[in-house]
Formats: sequence, structure tokens, C-alpha cells
Amino acid sequence: MQGFQLEIFPEGPVLIQRAIEIWQARSAAAIRERGRFTVVLAGGSTPKKLYAALAQTPGIPWQQTWLFWGDERYVPPDHPESNYRMVRETLLEQIGIPAAQVFPMPTHAGDPLRDAAEYEATLRQIFGAECPSLDLVWLGVGEDGHTASLFPDTAALQVQHRWVTVGQKGQEPRLTLTYPVLNQAAQVVFLVTGANKAPIVKEALTTEAHLPCQRINPRGRLLWLLDAAAAAQLPLPCVPLLS
Ligand code: 6PG
Repeated sequence: MQGFQLEIFPEGPVLIQRAIEIWQARSAAAIRERGRFTVVLAGGSTPKKLYAALAQTPGIPWQQTWLFWGDERYVPPDHPESNYRMVRETLLEQIGIPAAQVFPMPTHAGDPLRDAAEYEATLRQIFGAECPSLDLVWLGVGEDGHTASLFPDTAALQVQHRWVTVGQKGQEPRLTLTYPVLNQAAQVVFLVTGANKAPIVKEALTTEAHLPCQRINPRGRLLWLLDAAAAAQLPLPCVPLLS
């Protein structure tokens, strides 16, 4: 695994405040350089607190922000499992971001492959033929080492010539960005919290286990942003004495 930054915080508001600082710094730089900020949102439960805190943070330049999803469960957008619904409820309903800058992954074709192709076509319409270097990608990690919907021992891990593909969680299809897009990012942040993630964090950061999350090696910066519980099994020098 390439070099990465590691930041560990006590759980709760301090960690989320750091995540917001990272969002704000990357956003300011991107808007200064290119007039817009492209960010990929993680799904699952960990980022909910970040999105809810962002919704309450003044001064976020939503008018210049473009939101994308890293993956989506193959369910309707109002389904309890939908990552779009999670972001709509925690963030979108509270902010005034132009709807034309919000790009959820479609799940309406009844065929995940067709919806994956539709999302890729949308990305190509926005960014052109070259694989985009998205400004900031948020990712989580599952207890099996998956990230986005790139699950261990699935075909999605091998996809190199597509930007969006169909992931597989057991029998459950999902849409996911692929390694080519994720690894082209200017910055990737793994936001990982909770004691249940401590074993996989240790395996991901201290072994050559070939986990899906270990194949995230972005062109730009890679940061593992952890709370103390998720970092608890890392070797001591990594875990500062947290007051
Ligand atoms: C999803 C995510 C997935 C998630 C991890 C961690 O759709 O579930 O994209 O990759 O980040 O499974 O999920 P938790 O944050 O719920 O632990």
C-alpha cells in the first residue's frame, strides 16, 4: 500500500470537526483553481454524522459544490437502505445546493448493468472522455475490508476499463465507482469509526492482506481518519495518548 496519512481523534465531535476542516480546505482549493468542487460521498452509517454536521456548518460553498456517490445499493431512492436517501435526509434537505449539481446513482432501469452504464455516461458528459480527478472522495471500510461496493473476491475488483460497475454484496447487486476513478482522485479520506472496525483497520494498515480497501492508492493524497476505537489495535506508535 502506498504512503498514507493517519489521523486519530477521540470519537465524536472532534473527529467530525476535523472531517469538516478537510472538506472545507479541499473545497476552497478546488474552487480557487477550477471554480467548482467535486466530491464523492460514502454510503453506510459512519458518514451520517459528518453529513448532518456539514448541513449545520455555515459558509460551505454549496453553489459551487458537485456531489457524487461512491456506491449505491440497488434499491429505489426512497428505500431505507438507499445511500441517496441517507444523504437526502442528513444533508440535502437542509442545504440549498442546486439540484443540477447533485448526481445520485440511478437504480430505476431494473438492470444494475444498465444503471451503471447510465451513471458512467453522466460522468463522461460532465468530465469528458478522460477519467476525472475528483477533488475529494470519502470512503468507508467494511469489517471484511470492502470499500464503496468493492467487495472481496468479486469481479468488480478487476474492472479497469469502466468508471462505474456492478458490485456484489453476496447476492445483492450494488453500483460502485471502480478503482480507476477512485485512484484518480486528488484526495481520498477513509472515515472509519467504532471498535468493530479495529481488526480490519489493523489488517489494512499493517499487513499485505490484499483487501479491497488496500487497493485504494490515489494519485493524490490518502488519509485514514479514525476515532480511537477504530485505531485501538494499531501498534502503539500510531496511537497517540489521547487525553
Ligand atoms: C455502503 C458503503 C460501504 C460502507 C462500509 C462501511 O454503501 O454501505 O459505501 O462501503 O462505507 O460498508 O459501512 P458503515 O459506515 O455502515 O460501517
